[in-house]
This record gives sequence, C-alpha cells and structure tokens, in this order.
Amino acid sequence: MREINTDRARAGKKSGFGHRYLDMARPSQHNRPMKNGYNTPHPIATTGSTYVVQAYAKINLTLDVLGRRADGYHDLATVMQTIDLYDTISLTTTADKQLRLFCSQTELNTDDNLALRAAQALLHYCGIEQGLDIELHKRIPVAAGLGGGSSDAATVLLALQTWWQLALSADEMLSLAAELGSDVPFFLTGGLALCEGRGERVTPLPLHWPAALRWLLLLKPAIGVSTATVFRNLPPDDYTDGSHSRAVTTALRNRQAVESADLHNGLERSVLERYPRVAQARADLLHAGATLVRLSGSGPTLFAPFAGLTQAALVEQRLREQGYEVYLTRPIYSDNVHAYVFS
Ligand code: C5P
Repeated sequence: MREINTDRARAGKKSGFGHRYLDMARPSQHNRPMKNGYNTPHPIATTGSTYVVQAYAKINLTLDVLGRRADGYHDLATVMQTIDLYDTISLTTTADKQLRLFCSQTELNTDDNLALRAAQALLHYCGIEQGLDIELHKRIPVAAGLGGGSSDAATVLLALQTWWQLALSADEMLSLAAELGSDVPFFLTGGLALCEGRGERVTPLPLHWPAALRWLLLLKPAIGVSTATVFRNLPPDDYTDGSHSRAVTTALRNRQAVESADLHNGLERSVLERYPRVAQARADLLHAGATLVRLSGSGPTLFAPFAGLTQAALVEQRLREQGYEVYLTRPIYSDNVHAYVFS
C-alpha cells in the first residue's frame, strides 16, 4: 500500500469533473478501498484493487480549420460527439512503484502510449508513488480519426481522479489533458461539444441530437493516417472562418435541423485527394446506399448518418461483404446513455 505524498493529492473532495465522469454509471471496482479522509496521507488503494472503465470514440460533426498558428498547431472550431465504440481500460494497483501497460494490440505496448503517459503525468503531478498495471483492450481503430488514444488518456485521468478521490480542479485536469494532446480535453466531458483553439477550449452542448443522424455507420479504410501529416499538407485554401461549426452549434442549441452543407470537415478534401483508398471507400459507401458521407477528424475513417436502423444495417452488411471494416454506432452521452432526445 502506498501513501499520498503531497497535499495536492488531497482525498475526499470532489472535483468539478466528478459529475461528468465518463461511464459514471458503469465503472466496476473490485476490492474498493475505504474513502480517504480530507488532507491526510492515507493509503490510496489496496494492492490488487481493480477499476474498470470504458473509453469512447468520437466523430467530428464539423471541423473548421481557421488557420495556422505561430506554434505550428492550427486553430480549430469543431463539433465533436462521443459514440458507443469503446476501448476498455482496467487499472490494478500493484505493490511496486512501476507503471505497466498491457495492450491487446501488442504494437501499442510502448512508452509513448497515451494511456500510460496520462497515468504517469497524473501520478507525477500529484506526487503519488503507486504501482499500477494498465490493461488496455483496444476496439477503437488506431490512427483513424476517432480519437481513441486521446479518449484512453482522458479516461485514465478521470478514472484515477475518481477512484483515488484526488482533489484536482477542473483547470488542473484540463491542463494535464491538453499537454497530452489536442483532443484529450474534449474527452474529459465527452458527449456533444464545440471545441475551439487547438481543441482545448471545450463548450458542452445540450443533450440534443438530430433524428436524421441517429445511426452512424463508420467505415475504416485499411490505412492509418497521421494527423500531423494531414495538417502539414493542408493548403490555406481549405481554411474556413468557423461558420460551419457556428451554424451547427446554433442549430443544435435551437433544436433545429442541421444543414448537410454545414457538416463540413476542412481536412476532407485534401485527405480524399491524397489517399485514393479513402476516396474509393467514400464512393463505395455512397454506392451501398449512404446519402451523406463525411470524414471524421483527420481520417481515414468515414461516417455516414442514417435516421433508421434498417437502412443503416443494410448498408453495413453490403460493405462488410465487400471486405470493409465497418461499425454501426450511435451517439452516446457520458452521464446517461439513454438521455439523448432525438427530434
Ligand atoms: O495535439 P496532438 O498531438 O494530438 O496533434 C497531433 C498533430 O496534429 C500535431 O503535432 C499537429 O501537427 C497537428 N495538429 C494541429 N492543430 C491542431 C491539432 C493538431 O496542427 N489543433
């Protein structure tokens, strides 16, 4: 058993993110420790305790690239939504001081895996010396534009904060998240949100999702795409002023239909041009019966929205028969998976 070493890691006080904790309804805990007292060093957890959480993927409903910044990043306005495609993360306390990662995809068992780096960053920031085994069961495709690694990182931060009752403020969590990656702050809240700046300025949007987009069929072409490469190759002609994201945000807030022209991804044109397999997959999705197809993030995953399950499942089946990797998903809100109102 380890002890909390600094008063940053005070126990017993809920942070601002407690109520937004991803998958709050369903974390499972084995050998859950007694709650720690406030501001006193106590054991964090009994050795061998396990905490299990789900880390959801996202799609970008819009993605306006506003321009390149002096620091090399791009200013964005993007509306993101978590979907019910998830990785499972199992955290187990160990008697030594080692942080270890065990990933179902062995090539992701590296020191720069974001789930591991998130645990390192949080423990270092809080001055906690606690051995931890992180088991990461990947289901979200990697380098796919679905935010899998970022979601894993945010979920590890939230899980450890909640499990060990660490009194980190929302701002502290946000800056730890933003250091790990541009998309990580979004996954601290999940659900539906407008993200601006590098991605770290997150404005949650109301629980409303257009009925026309109820089912989301994802198609992951059999290539990985580097986000850095996509941004580096983006011509300034593809920059927009944020009007698509603003229009969609307004429509969602007012419970109005979103215009398909506003479901715009500023990275899509250049990705389709550069990666013929993505362009082919887009054509095949349309041919199979999708009426609207968009790139998620920097791709290569494409998504096609459907109002009804029957048509979505039919198109899914056709594409699977062609050998495509497809996932039929729906939007998911982190607090309550049943809470979405469709209209
Ligand atoms: O922040 P993250 O490490 O996820 O970003 C990966 C790469 O994507 C960055 O190194 C950068 O090249 C590019 N990027 C960008 N502007 C953003 C987010 C990412 O240029 N807002």
